[in-house]
Amino acid sequence: MQTVLIIALSLHVLAGVVWAGGTFALARLGGAGGPRLRAPMLGAAIVTMLTGGYLWQAVHGGAPGTPEKVLAVGIACALLAFMVQAGAGARTHWQLTRGTLPEAAAQARMALVTRLAAGLLAITVICMAAARYA
Ligand code: HEM
Repeated sequence: MQTVLIIALSLHVLAGVVWAGGTFALARLGGAGGPRLRAPMLGAAIVTMLTGGYLWQAVHGGAPGTPEKVLAVGIACALLAFMVQAGAGARTHWQLTRGTLPEAAAQARMALVTRLAAGLLAITVICMAAARYA
């Protein structure tokens, strides 16, 4: 059980670092390079959410205290970041493929979305790190 928890937490932190770190880098680059990072970041986000969901039910499934409230804020921000990134990314990709959105407009939109997601994921990382000591 302890081994499974250690593996799940390690995978969770590793995937979370890829997702949040990739988003921070893209925000700094104004969204440039987004298409090349889309697949690894989507995979990392999915692994982060699945392992996080497992950790929640395995470690924090009981009565919610302060740590759970702090974690919940972080989780809400991460889910919002995912919806914003995946939703805008899919819509932009679709419009670019159909030729209904100019390249420059797509890049400007994704730059804005990535900055918003980076802010949300920064809150997530702080909440995840602080929850244990809250
Ligand atoms: C929907 C997304 C997420 C969910 C459901 C989630 C859930 C959780 C849960 C339940 C824990 C507590 C584990 C424990 O007490 O042993 C945790 C810890 C942690 N999470 Fe997340 N998390 C998410 C996103 C992220 C992201 C994006 C990062 C970015 C790096 C992250 C980094 C961490 C870290 C570093 C810890 C370890 C904290 C510690 O053990 O002191 N999480 N997460």
